[in-house]
Amino acid sequence: MTDHLDDRNILDEIRAVKKRLKTKLLILAHHYQRSEIVDIADFRGDSFGLSQKAAADKAAQFIVFCGVHFMAESAAILCQPHQSVQIPALEAGCWMADMADNQAVKRAWEDVATIVDEGSVMPIVYMNSDAELKAFCGRQGGTVCTSSNAPAAFRWALSQREKIFFFPDEHLGRNTGNQMGIQPDEMIVWNPEEPLGGNTAESIKGAKVILWEGYCLVHTRFREDHVMKMRKRFPEARVVVHPECTQEVVALADAVGSTSFIVKYVENAPPDTTIIVGTEINLINRLALEFPDKKVLDLHYSLCPNMFKISPDKLLRTLEHIGQVNRVEVPEAIRADARMALDRMLDLAP
Ligand code: 13P
Ligand code: SF4
Repeated sequence: MTDHLDDRNILDEIRAVKKRLKTKLLILAHHYQRSEIVDIADFRGDSFGLSQKAAADKAAQFIVFCGVHFMAESAAILCQPHQSVQIPALEAGCWMADMADNQAVKRAWEDVATIVDEGSVMPIVYMNSDAELKAFCGRQGGTVCTSSNAPAAFRWALSQREKIFFFPDEHLGRNTGNQMGIQPDEMIVWNPEEPLGGNTAESIKGAKVILWEGYCLVHTRFREDHVMKMRKRFPEARVVVHPECTQEVVALADAVGSTSFIVKYVENAPPDTTIIVGTEINLINRLALEFPDKKVLDLHYSLCPNMFKISPDKLLRTLEHIGQVNRVEVPEAIRADARMALDRMLDLAP
């Protein structure tokens, strides 16, 4: 009971700060945030939508980003000089982003360049990455992409260069390649621990897409047998999954797309539809509450502990020290190059 009252007080205090700061404050929340956070935010979205919002807003002096670090960092790169970005928990990272560090990617790029002409390879970095990797892509003429515009980014890249070097999510890369009709033997995996990423010179020459061996532990937890079991229990159900799932799970689904795509998919389904969703549990639980006329079920329980690090009390503590604590800043030399790659991403509309 006391805890409950405490939580309510925290939310009341957050509302009071919002009222005081008015349009000087913009709270952004990713779809995987807890309901209390999403409800109190000014805008919720997927990585693409949140970047668009951070780039477009000129009124707010303070942007408070409720999501993981790479998202807040991208907002800090895209916002105006008079704006500051804060994240309520600096330690809210992303396991997948941690799977590709700057040195390892540069080493791989140089290794590929010993086999094929560097100018024939377009680097595309998934949004889930450090600013330094976005800057690397910017300098090489490449782009950032999110799960919502990955096909547009692949088309853009292949209209200019022969090959794509995609990092760090092997699965989003492969699912996008499959969607575009790229053959399985034209997509190779780069293991940074192995010489030539575990490939031969011949396979690198023949590849259209080089996929970094990174993955999301939240989404690779979904397996084919989860889909088959749920389909057996609910034969009429539709299955929608995020493209960070394996290609085997995606092949068994009815639809695949970003978190905003999943939200729209549920929203647009007729009443009484059963929808089985393969993504982070906080989003699924919220969809189930928001659409009580539909049956929204999880494919399997999978929570992102990184997203969960943002809590109402941490948000309040950040708001109490607005503009001062947990600021996310990017050194200018990195920011300028990363901005080029992020601007290209924003031009590649989903
Ligand atoms: P979206 O861009 O689809 O919101 O995905 C972000 C993410 O981290 C999924 O795990
Ligand atoms: Fe990173 Fe996976 Fe969490 Fe998304 S769900 S933020 S990819 S760890």
